[in-house]
Amino acid sequence: MDLGLSGKRALVTGGSHGIGLATAKALVAEGCDVAICSRNEERLAGAAKILKLSGRTIIAAPCDVHAPADIQRFCAEVTKAWGGVDILVNNVGGGGRWGKESIEATEERVWTEVFEKNALAAIRFTTYFLPYMRAKKWGRVVTVTSRYGREGGGRPWFNMAKAAQTSMMKTLGMNHDLAGAGITFNSVAPGHIMIPGTGLEDQMKKDPAGFKAFLDAECPLGRAGSPEEVGAVIAFVCSAQASLINGAAIAVDGGESRAF
Ligand SMILES: NC(=O)c1ccc[n+]([C@@H]2O[C@H](COP(=O)([O-])OP(=O)(O)OC[C@H]3O[C@@H](n4cnc5c(N)ncnc54)[C@H](OP(=O)(O)O)[C@@H]3O)[C@@H](O)[C@H]2O)c1
Repeated sequence: MDLGLSGKRALVTGGSHGIGLATAKALVAEGCDVAICSRNEERLAGAAKILKLSGRTIIAAPCDVHAPADIQRFCAEVTKAWGGVDILVNNVGGGGRWGKESIEATEERVWTEVFEKNALAAIRFTTYFLPYMRAKKWGRVVTVTSRYGREGGGRPWFNMAKAAQTSMMKTLGMNHDLAGAGITFNSVAPGHIMIPGTGLEDQMKKDPAGFKAFLDAECPLGRAGSPEEVGAVIAFVCSAQASLINGAAIAVDGGESRAF
């Protein structure tokens, strides 16, 4: 299926690894030019090299989403090159393992840092590009959340931040003014996704038998997902065909979440 995205310009935050990189790959394969940002410059350059093989224009620049000035600088760089972006994927997030099991033993800064990394970062990128999308009368904003953005569970600061992202996408999607300008807002909620070098892989390496038992108990498919399985859904949500998908919170979790 041709997703109707050829020539669109997309920005994927945290596009150097995992779900972000898989999404960037799916978008360049559909003919988008893509801008990515992250902190580790070596990994960023490696991702840019892979994405450039598509022949599309790639912008890759460092940015720590905890620093509002970094976000401003990166967005301004992209705007200088392209005028703005048609597609924004708010992918950076996490903090599901931050803090301690005990809520009382967890410092308040964990709540604020996880909120900033997930919700505030998404708000800052989104508000930056809305005027451009409004002027173009077309736009796609997709925020990567989690099953814990759709239901209770996990560490409370993570659940709160992911639920805030889901709420933001739904509420912006219900705004007649923005919807009338052809902009859609959706969240994509992954379940357990196996990504090299992240906590889930560590868990698997430490205790393969225990990890298998965990997957059998938690995941109806008996396996974790791949970043490509999430990136493909995000690319579809950005497509011309997805024009009626707005304000949705789409589970991409193999059926593991309890929410409808
Ligand atoms: N993997 C899962 O099982 C899973 C499940 C549910 C939800 N999610 C969500 O999916 C999204 C992507 O997660 P992932 O698992 O794909 O993570 P990942 O493989 O660790 O990749 C994260 C990306 O974000 C960048 N990044 C991290 N912190 C950053 C910061 N402060 N500023 C700028 N860039 C930053 C990373 O690069 P640098 O480290 O170099 O900055 C990297 O490019 C997150 O929102 C996460 O909560 C993941």
